[in-house]
Amino acid sequence: MAAVQQLSAAYPLGSRIDDAGVLEVGGCNALELAREFGTPCYVVAEDDLRARARAFVSAFKARTDDFDVLFATKAFPCTAVMRVLQQEGLGCDVASGGELHLALRAGFDPARIVLHGNAKSEAELRAAVDAGIGHVVVDNLDEVDRLDRLTDSQRVMLRVTPGVRGRTHDFISTGQADSKFGFSIADARIAIGRLGDRVAGIHMHIGSQLLELAPFRAAVEAIAGLGDFEAYNLGGGLGVRYTTEEPPSLEEYAAAKVDAVRDVFGPGRRVLDEPGRALTANSTVTLYSVESIKHNVRTWVAVDGGMSDNLRPMLYGARYEAQVVDRIGGTTPCCLAGKHCESSDVLIDEVALDEPRVGDVIVTPATGAYGYAMANNYNGVPRPPVVFAAGGDARLVVRRETVEDLVARDV
Ligand code: LLP
Repeated sequence: MAAVQQLSAAYPLGSRIDDAGVLEVGGCNALELAREFGTPCYVVAEDDLRARARAFVSAFKARTDDFDVLFATKAFPCTAVMRVLQQEGLGCDVASGGELHLALRAGFDPARIVLHGNAKSEAELRAAVDAGIGHVVVDNLDEVDRLDRLTDSQRVMLRVTPGVRGRTHDFISTGQADSKFGFSIADARIAIGRLGDRVAGIHMHIGSQLLELAPFRAAVEAIAGLGDFEAYNLGGGLGVRYTTEEPPSLEEYAAAKVDAVRDVFGPGRRVLDEPGRALTANSTVTLYSVESIKHNVRTWVAVDGGMSDNLRPMLYGARYEAQVVDRIGGTTPCCLAGKHCESSDVLIDEVALDEPRVGDVIVTPATGAYGYAMANNYNGVPRPPVVFAAGGDARLVVRRETVEDLVARDV
Protein backbone atom coordinates (compact mmCIF):
# COMPACT_ATOMS: atom_id res chain seq x y z
CA MET A 1 0.00 0.00 0.00
CA ALA A 2 1.50 3.33 -1.05
CA ALA A 3 1.64 6.23 1.33
CA VAL A 4 -1.42 8.44 0.86
CA GLN A 5 -0.49 11.46 -1.20
CA GLN A 6 -2.02 14.77 -2.10
CA LEU A 7 -3.50 15.26 -5.53
CA SER A 8 -1.63 17.59 -7.84
CA ALA A 9 -3.05 20.88 -9.10
CA ALA A 10 -3.78 19.19 -12.45
CA TYR A 11 -6.99 17.71 -10.96
CA PRO A 12 -10.30 19.58 -11.02
CA LEU A 13 -10.94 21.97 -8.13
CA GLY A 14 -12.63 20.15 -5.27
CA SER A 15 -11.09 16.76 -6.14
CA ARG A 16 -9.90 14.83 -3.12
CA ILE A 17 -8.88 11.46 -1.81
CA ASP A 18 -11.64 10.13 0.43
CA ASP A 19 -11.16 8.37 3.76
CA ALA A 20 -10.89 5.00 2.00
CA GLY A 21 -8.12 6.36 -0.24
CA VAL A 22 -10.25 6.65 -3.37
CA LEU A 23 -10.21 9.60 -5.74
CA GLU A 24 -13.31 11.76 -5.62
CA VAL A 25 -14.18 14.16 -8.46
CA GLY A 26 -17.16 16.51 -8.14
CA GLY A 27 -17.99 14.67 -4.92
CA CYS A 28 -18.25 11.35 -6.81
CA ASN A 29 -16.18 8.26 -6.09
CA ALA A 30 -14.07 7.43 -9.15
CA LEU A 31 -14.55 3.66 -8.78
CA GLU A 32 -18.32 4.10 -8.70
CA LEU A 33 -18.20 6.42 -11.72
CA ALA A 34 -16.23 3.78 -13.62
CA ARG A 35 -18.74 1.10 -12.60
CA GLU A 36 -21.79 3.17 -13.49
CA PHE A 37 -20.66 4.70 -16.78
CA GLY A 38 -17.98 2.27 -17.90
CA THR A 39 -14.49 3.15 -19.10
CA PRO A 40 -12.97 4.98 -20.81
CA CYS A 41 -15.02 7.92 -19.70
CA TYR A 42 -14.53 11.68 -19.52
CA VAL A 43 -15.64 13.06 -16.14
CA VAL A 44 -16.20 16.82 -15.98
CA ALA A 45 -16.31 18.49 -12.57
CA GLU A 46 -19.07 20.97 -13.34
CA ASP A 47 -18.22 23.30 -10.44
CA ASP A 48 -14.64 23.55 -11.66
CA LEU A 49 -15.84 24.59 -15.12
CA ARG A 50 -18.12 27.24 -13.62
CA ALA A 51 -15.41 28.49 -11.28
CA ARG A 52 -12.91 28.92 -14.10
CA ALA A 53 -15.45 30.76 -16.26
CA ARG A 54 -16.19 33.15 -13.36
CA ALA A 55 -12.49 33.60 -12.67
CA PHE A 56 -11.87 34.60 -16.30
CA VAL A 57 -14.67 37.15 -16.20
CA SER A 58 -13.50 38.61 -12.88
CA ALA A 59 -9.88 38.80 -14.02
CA PHE A 60 -10.88 40.89 -17.05
CA LYS A 61 -13.45 42.90 -15.11
CA ALA A 62 -10.77 43.87 -12.60
CA ARG A 63 -8.82 45.47 -15.46
CA THR A 64 -11.44 46.97 -17.82
CA ASP A 65 -15.16 47.60 -18.24
CA ASP A 66 -15.11 46.88 -21.94
CA PHE A 67 -14.35 43.22 -22.61
CA ASP A 68 -15.87 39.92 -23.61
CA VAL A 69 -14.70 36.40 -22.89
CA LEU A 70 -15.54 34.01 -25.71
CA PHE A 71 -15.14 30.27 -25.19
CA ALA A 72 -13.04 28.68 -27.93
CA THR A 73 -15.44 25.86 -28.77
CA LYS A 74 -12.71 23.75 -30.35
CA ALA A 75 -11.29 22.92 -26.93
CA PHE A 76 -14.40 20.99 -25.82
CA PRO A 77 -17.12 21.02 -28.48
CA CYS A 78 -19.85 19.48 -26.38
CA THR A 79 -23.16 21.31 -25.96
CA ALA A 80 -23.43 20.45 -22.24
CA VAL A 81 -20.05 22.05 -21.56
CA MET A 82 -20.90 24.99 -23.80
CA ARG A 83 -24.26 25.49 -22.05
CA VAL A 84 -22.51 25.76 -18.68
CA LEU A 85 -20.14 28.39 -20.07
CA GLN A 86 -23.06 30.24 -21.69
CA GLN A 87 -24.89 30.23 -18.33
CA GLU A 88 -21.79 31.70 -16.74
CA GLY A 89 -22.02 34.66 -19.08
CA LEU A 90 -19.44 33.82 -21.74
CA GLY A 91 -19.73 34.34 -25.48
CA CYS A 92 -18.37 31.90 -28.00
CA ASP A 93 -15.76 31.44 -30.73
CA VAL A 94 -16.53 28.89 -33.44
CA ALA A 95 -14.19 27.64 -36.15
CA SER A 96 -16.60 25.95 -38.54
CA GLY A 97 -20.25 25.60 -39.49
CA GLY A 98 -20.38 22.56 -37.21
CA GLU A 99 -19.16 24.50 -34.19
CA LEU A 100 -21.60 27.30 -35.07
CA HIS A 101 -24.40 24.73 -34.96
CA LEU A 102 -23.23 23.56 -31.52
CA ALA A 103 -23.01 27.14 -30.21
CA LEU A 104 -26.52 27.99 -31.36
CA ARG A 105 -27.82 24.72 -29.92
CA ALA A 106 -26.09 25.50 -26.62
CA GLY A 107 -28.00 28.77 -26.45
CA PHE A 108 -25.30 31.38 -27.07
CA ASP A 109 -26.57 34.79 -28.13
CA PRO A 110 -25.61 34.98 -31.84
CA ALA A 111 -24.42 38.55 -31.29
CA ARG A 112 -21.70 37.16 -29.03
CA ILE A 113 -20.51 34.47 -31.44
CA VAL A 114 -17.49 35.00 -33.68
CA LEU A 115 -16.65 32.76 -36.65
CA HIS A 116 -13.07 31.76 -37.42
CA GLY A 117 -11.38 29.73 -40.12
CA ASN A 118 -8.67 30.03 -42.75
CA ALA A 119 -10.80 28.19 -45.33
CA LYS A 120 -14.40 29.10 -44.61
CA SER A 121 -16.84 27.87 -47.21
CA GLU A 122 -19.56 30.04 -48.66
CA ALA A 123 -22.11 27.86 -46.85
CA GLU A 124 -20.38 28.47 -43.52
CA LEU A 125 -20.28 32.21 -44.11
CA ARG A 126 -23.93 32.22 -45.14
CA ALA A 127 -24.97 30.27 -42.04
CA ALA A 128 -23.08 32.75 -39.84
CA VAL A 129 -24.55 35.82 -41.54
CA ASP A 130 -28.06 34.32 -41.43
CA ALA A 131 -27.68 33.53 -37.72
CA GLY A 132 -26.74 37.16 -37.07
CA ILE A 133 -23.39 36.49 -35.44
CA GLY A 134 -21.40 39.36 -33.96
CA HIS A 135 -18.23 39.14 -36.06
CA VAL A 136 -16.87 37.11 -38.88
CA VAL A 137 -13.12 36.99 -38.30
CA VAL A 138 -11.93 37.36 -41.88
CA ASP A 139 -8.67 35.52 -42.62
CA ASN A 140 -7.76 36.16 -46.28
CA LEU A 141 -8.61 38.18 -49.37
CA ASP A 142 -10.51 35.31 -51.03
CA GLU A 143 -12.82 35.34 -48.06
CA VAL A 144 -13.36 39.08 -48.50
CA ASP A 145 -14.56 38.32 -52.06
CA ARG A 146 -16.79 35.51 -50.81
CA LEU A 147 -18.31 37.65 -48.05
CA ASP A 148 -18.86 40.55 -50.47
CA ARG A 149 -20.99 38.26 -52.63
CA LEU A 150 -23.21 37.49 -49.63
CA THR A 151 -23.61 40.80 -47.83
CA ASP A 152 -22.23 44.30 -47.47
CA SER A 153 -23.20 44.79 -43.84
CA GLN A 154 -21.64 41.98 -41.77
CA ARG A 155 -19.35 43.33 -39.05
CA VAL A 156 -15.92 41.73 -39.24
CA MET A 157 -12.59 41.57 -37.50
CA LEU A 158 -9.40 40.84 -39.40
CA ARG A 159 -7.18 38.00 -38.31
CA VAL A 160 -3.62 39.15 -38.66
CA THR A 161 -0.43 37.18 -38.20
CA PRO A 162 1.81 39.52 -36.26
CA GLY A 163 5.11 37.75 -36.90
CA VAL A 164 5.55 36.90 -33.22
CA ARG A 165 6.33 33.45 -31.86
CA GLY A 166 5.39 32.33 -28.37
CA ARG A 167 7.35 29.41 -26.98
CA THR A 168 5.19 26.31 -27.56
CA HIS A 169 5.03 23.20 -29.76
CA ASP A 170 5.40 24.07 -33.46
CA PHE A 171 2.04 22.46 -34.26
CA ILE A 172 0.17 24.89 -32.01
CA SER A 173 2.19 28.02 -32.77
CA THR A 174 0.24 30.36 -35.04
CA GLY A 175 1.58 33.91 -34.74
CA GLN A 176 4.74 33.50 -36.83
CA ALA A 177 4.93 35.41 -40.12
CA ASP A 178 4.90 32.22 -42.22
CA SER A 179 1.63 30.84 -40.89
CA LYS A 180 -1.45 29.46 -42.59
CA PHE A 181 -3.56 31.70 -40.37
CA GLY A 182 -4.45 35.30 -40.96
CA PHE A 183 -3.39 38.23 -43.12
CA SER A 184 0.16 39.41 -43.43
CA ILE A 185 0.41 43.02 -42.29
CA ALA A 186 0.58 44.11 -45.97
CA ASP A 187 -2.54 42.18 -47.02
CA ALA A 188 -4.37 43.35 -43.90
CA ARG A 189 -4.00 46.93 -45.18
CA ILE A 190 -5.62 45.93 -48.49
CA ALA A 191 -8.47 44.16 -46.68
CA ILE A 192 -9.06 47.15 -44.40
CA GLY A 193 -9.28 49.35 -47.51
CA ARG A 194 -11.86 47.05 -49.06
CA LEU A 195 -13.97 46.38 -45.98
CA GLY A 196 -14.03 49.99 -44.72
CA ASP A 197 -16.20 50.65 -41.70
CA ARG A 198 -17.33 47.04 -41.50
CA VAL A 199 -14.01 46.40 -39.73
CA ALA A 200 -14.63 46.50 -36.00
CA GLY A 201 -11.13 45.48 -35.07
CA ILE A 202 -8.13 43.23 -35.31
CA HIS A 203 -7.79 39.62 -34.18
CA MET A 204 -4.66 37.65 -33.36
CA HIS A 205 -4.07 34.23 -31.85
CA ILE A 206 -0.36 33.64 -31.51
CA GLY A 207 -0.41 30.11 -30.15
CA SER A 208 -1.62 27.77 -27.48
CA GLN A 209 -0.30 26.39 -24.17
CA LEU A 210 1.74 29.58 -23.71
CA LEU A 211 3.43 29.84 -20.32
CA GLU A 212 4.92 33.31 -20.90
CA LEU A 213 3.02 36.55 -21.37
CA ALA A 214 5.57 38.79 -23.10
CA PRO A 215 4.63 37.60 -26.64
CA PHE A 216 1.12 39.05 -26.24
CA ARG A 217 2.51 42.57 -25.85
CA ALA A 218 4.98 42.03 -28.70
CA ALA A 219 2.07 40.94 -30.92
CA VAL A 220 -0.01 44.02 -30.08
CA GLU A 221 2.99 46.25 -30.80
CA ALA A 222 3.47 44.49 -34.14
CA ILE A 223 0.01 45.51 -35.37
CA ALA A 224 0.16 49.10 -34.13
CA GLY A 225 0.65 50.47 -37.65
CA LEU A 226 -2.62 49.03 -38.98
CA GLY A 227 -4.73 51.85 -37.61
CA ASP A 228 -6.97 52.46 -34.70
CA PHE A 229 -9.99 50.26 -34.10
CA GLU A 230 -12.72 49.92 -31.49
CA ALA A 231 -11.90 46.30 -30.60
CA TYR A 232 -8.91 43.97 -30.28
CA ASN A 233 -9.29 40.23 -29.95
CA LEU A 234 -6.06 38.66 -28.77
CA GLY A 235 -7.24 35.05 -29.12
CA GLY A 236 -6.64 32.46 -26.42
CA GLY A 237 -3.42 30.73 -25.57
CA LEU A 238 -3.03 30.60 -21.80
CA GLY A 239 -1.18 27.44 -20.82
CA VAL A 240 -2.34 25.06 -18.12
CA ARG A 241 -0.83 22.62 -15.71
CA TYR A 242 -0.65 19.07 -17.08
CA THR A 243 2.21 17.88 -14.85
CA THR A 244 4.71 20.40 -13.50
CA GLU A 245 3.98 23.48 -15.62
CA GLU A 246 3.43 26.73 -13.76
CA PRO A 247 1.21 28.93 -15.89
CA PRO A 248 0.76 32.63 -15.15
CA SER A 249 -2.31 33.49 -13.08
CA LEU A 250 -5.50 34.62 -14.78
CA GLU A 251 -4.97 38.06 -13.26
CA GLU A 252 -1.51 38.32 -14.82
CA TYR A 253 -2.82 37.04 -18.14
CA ALA A 254 -5.77 39.46 -18.30
CA ALA A 255 -3.53 42.33 -17.21
CA ALA A 256 -0.93 41.51 -19.88
CA LYS A 257 -3.52 41.59 -22.64
CA VAL A 258 -5.62 44.53 -21.47
CA ASP A 259 -2.60 46.67 -20.58
CA ALA A 260 -0.88 45.97 -23.89
CA VAL A 261 -3.95 47.16 -25.82
CA ARG A 262 -4.32 50.25 -23.61
CA ASP A 263 -0.63 51.15 -23.78
CA VAL A 264 -0.43 50.79 -27.55
CA PHE A 265 -3.84 52.10 -28.63
CA GLY A 266 -4.97 54.21 -25.69
CA PRO A 267 -7.92 53.73 -23.34
CA GLY A 268 -11.48 52.84 -24.33
CA ARG A 269 -10.74 49.88 -26.61
CA ARG A 270 -12.80 46.75 -26.28
CA VAL A 271 -10.70 43.68 -25.50
CA LEU A 272 -11.95 40.26 -26.51
CA ASP A 273 -10.42 37.03 -25.29
CA GLU A 274 -10.87 33.47 -26.53
CA PRO A 275 -9.74 30.95 -23.93
CA GLY A 276 -10.20 27.29 -24.70
CA ARG A 277 -7.67 25.17 -22.86
CA ALA A 278 -7.49 27.31 -19.71
CA LEU A 279 -11.26 27.06 -19.26
CA THR A 280 -11.69 23.35 -19.76
CA ALA A 281 -8.45 21.33 -19.51
CA ASN A 282 -8.29 20.95 -15.74
CA SER A 283 -12.04 20.55 -15.32
CA THR A 284 -11.93 17.00 -16.60
CA VAL A 285 -10.33 13.64 -15.92
CA THR A 286 -10.39 10.49 -18.01
CA LEU A 287 -11.01 7.14 -16.35
CA TYR A 288 -9.63 3.97 -17.93
CA SER A 289 -9.49 0.30 -16.91
CA VAL A 290 -6.33 -1.76 -17.07
CA GLU A 291 -6.71 -4.61 -19.56
CA SER A 292 -3.22 -6.11 -19.56
CA ILE A 293 0.19 -5.82 -17.98
CA LYS A 294 3.41 -7.18 -19.41
CA HIS A 295 7.12 -6.87 -18.79
CA ASN A 296 8.88 -6.25 -22.11
CA VAL A 297 12.01 -4.56 -20.82
CA ARG A 298 9.70 -2.01 -19.19
CA THR A 299 6.37 -2.63 -17.46
CA TRP A 300 3.63 -2.00 -20.03
CA VAL A 301 0.24 -1.20 -18.59
CA ALA A 302 -2.41 -1.24 -21.31
CA VAL A 303 -5.76 0.46 -20.83
CA ASP A 304 -9.05 0.32 -22.71
CA GLY A 305 -8.61 3.69 -24.49
CA GLY A 306 -5.68 5.65 -25.85
CA MET A 307 -5.19 7.64 -29.01
CA SER A 308 -8.91 7.47 -29.81
CA ASP A 309 -9.74 9.55 -26.71
CA ASN A 310 -6.50 11.53 -26.24
CA LEU A 311 -4.37 12.25 -29.30
CA ARG A 312 -2.27 14.89 -27.59
CA PRO A 313 0.64 12.70 -26.41
CA MET A 314 1.04 11.30 -29.93
CA LEU A 315 0.63 14.60 -31.80
CA TYR A 316 2.53 16.98 -29.55
CA GLY A 317 4.50 14.79 -27.18
CA ALA A 318 2.18 16.13 -24.47
CA ARG A 319 2.84 14.85 -20.97
CA TYR A 320 0.17 13.75 -18.50
CA GLU A 321 -0.01 12.34 -14.98
CA ALA A 322 -1.79 9.15 -13.99
CA GLN A 323 -2.80 7.32 -10.84
CA VAL A 324 -4.60 4.14 -9.85
CA VAL A 325 -7.78 5.76 -8.49
CA ASP A 326 -7.86 3.78 -5.23
CA ARG A 327 -4.10 3.60 -4.65
CA ILE A 328 -2.85 7.14 -5.26
CA GLY A 329 0.92 7.40 -5.19
CA GLY A 330 3.17 4.43 -5.83
CA THR A 331 6.59 3.83 -7.26
CA THR A 332 6.33 1.14 -9.94
CA PRO A 333 7.73 2.67 -13.14
CA CYS A 334 5.28 1.96 -15.95
CA CYS A 335 4.63 2.81 -19.54
CA LEU A 336 0.90 3.56 -19.85
CA ALA A 337 -0.22 2.40 -23.27
CA GLY A 338 -3.50 2.45 -25.14
CA LYS A 339 -5.29 -0.35 -26.98
CA HIS A 340 -4.65 0.84 -30.52
CA CYS A 341 -2.73 -0.90 -33.25
CA GLU A 342 0.34 1.26 -33.47
CA SER A 343 3.36 1.90 -31.31
CA SER A 344 2.73 5.64 -30.97
CA ASP A 345 -0.31 4.79 -28.88
CA VAL A 346 1.34 5.54 -25.55
CA LEU A 347 -0.50 7.86 -23.17
CA ILE A 348 2.39 8.31 -20.74
CA ASP A 349 5.87 7.09 -21.46
CA GLU A 350 7.05 7.06 -17.86
CA VAL A 351 4.68 7.12 -14.95
CA ALA A 352 4.96 5.77 -11.41
CA LEU A 353 1.90 3.77 -10.35
CA ASP A 354 1.13 1.66 -7.32
CA GLU A 355 1.70 -1.89 -8.59
CA PRO A 356 -1.05 -1.81 -11.19
CA ARG A 357 -3.21 -4.87 -11.72
CA VAL A 358 -5.68 -5.93 -14.40
CA GLY A 359 -9.06 -4.35 -13.59
CA ASP A 360 -7.61 -1.31 -11.83
CA VAL A 361 -9.18 2.01 -12.72
CA ILE A 362 -6.62 4.55 -13.87
CA VAL A 363 -7.16 8.31 -14.00
CA THR A 364 -5.41 10.86 -16.17
CA PRO A 365 -6.25 14.45 -15.12
CA ALA A 366 -6.34 17.57 -17.30
CA THR A 367 -8.00 15.95 -20.29
CA GLY A 368 -10.81 18.49 -20.75
CA ALA A 369 -9.21 20.41 -23.61
CA TYR A 370 -8.65 18.89 -27.04
CA GLY A 371 -9.36 15.37 -25.74
CA TYR A 372 -13.03 14.81 -26.53
CA ALA A 373 -12.48 17.42 -29.26
CA MET A 374 -10.01 15.25 -31.18
CA ALA A 375 -11.48 11.87 -30.25
CA ASN A 376 -11.81 9.48 -33.15
CA ASN A 377 -12.82 5.95 -34.08
CA TYR A 378 -9.41 4.49 -34.89
CA ASN A 379 -9.66 0.70 -34.79
CA GLY A 380 -13.45 1.02 -34.68
CA VAL A 381 -13.32 2.03 -31.04
CA PRO A 382 -16.52 3.83 -29.99
CA ARG A 383 -15.87 7.25 -28.46
CA PRO A 384 -16.30 7.58 -24.68
CA PRO A 385 -19.20 9.22 -22.88
CA VAL A 386 -19.04 12.56 -21.08
CA VAL A 387 -20.27 12.58 -17.49
CA PHE A 388 -20.86 15.65 -15.33
CA ALA A 389 -20.06 15.25 -11.65
CA ALA A 390 -21.19 17.83 -9.10
CA GLY A 391 -22.04 17.73 -5.41
CA GLY A 392 -21.83 13.94 -5.31
CA ASP A 393 -24.24 13.43 -8.24
CA ALA A 394 -23.17 12.22 -11.65
CA ARG A 395 -25.15 12.55 -14.87
CA LEU A 396 -24.50 11.44 -18.39
CA VAL A 397 -24.40 14.34 -20.86
CA VAL A 398 -23.03 12.51 -23.92
CA ARG A 399 -23.63 8.78 -24.18
CA ARG A 400 -20.93 6.33 -25.22
CA GLU A 401 -20.88 5.60 -28.93
CA THR A 402 -22.08 2.13 -29.86
CA VAL A 403 -20.82 -0.17 -32.57
CA GLU A 404 -24.09 0.59 -34.37
CA ASP A 405 -23.03 4.26 -34.49
CA LEU A 406 -20.01 3.07 -36.46
CA VAL A 407 -22.27 1.99 -39.30
CA ALA A 408 -24.97 4.63 -38.87
CA ARG A 409 -23.80 6.66 -41.90
CA ASP A 410 -23.50 3.72 -44.24
CA VAL A 411 -25.81 4.05 -47.26
N1 LLP B 1 -8.79 31.38 -30.70
C1 LLP B 1 -8.32 30.88 -31.86
C2 LLP B 1 -8.50 31.64 -33.09
C3 LLP B 1 -7.64 29.64 -31.87
O1 LLP B 1 -7.17 29.17 -33.00
C4 LLP B 1 -7.50 28.93 -30.66
C5 LLP B 1 -6.84 27.63 -30.63
C6 LLP B 1 -8.04 29.48 -29.48
C7 LLP B 1 -8.66 30.72 -29.54
C8 LLP B 1 -7.96 28.79 -28.16
O2 LLP B 1 -6.68 28.63 -27.73
P1 LLP B 1 -6.38 28.05 -26.26
O3 LLP B 1 -6.87 29.05 -25.25
O4 LLP B 1 -7.08 26.76 -26.14
O5 LLP B 1 -4.91 27.92 -26.26
N2 LLP B 1 -5.22 20.79 -30.58
C9 LLP B 1 -4.18 21.54 -29.92
C10 LLP B 1 -4.58 22.98 -29.70
C11 LLP B 1 -4.91 23.73 -30.95
C12 LLP B 1 -5.33 25.14 -30.67
C13 LLP B 1 -5.84 25.79 -31.88
N3 LLP B 1 -6.36 27.09 -31.68
C14 LLP B 1 -3.80 20.89 -28.60
O6 LLP B 1 -4.37 19.87 -28.24
O7 LLP B 1 -2.88 21.36 -27.92
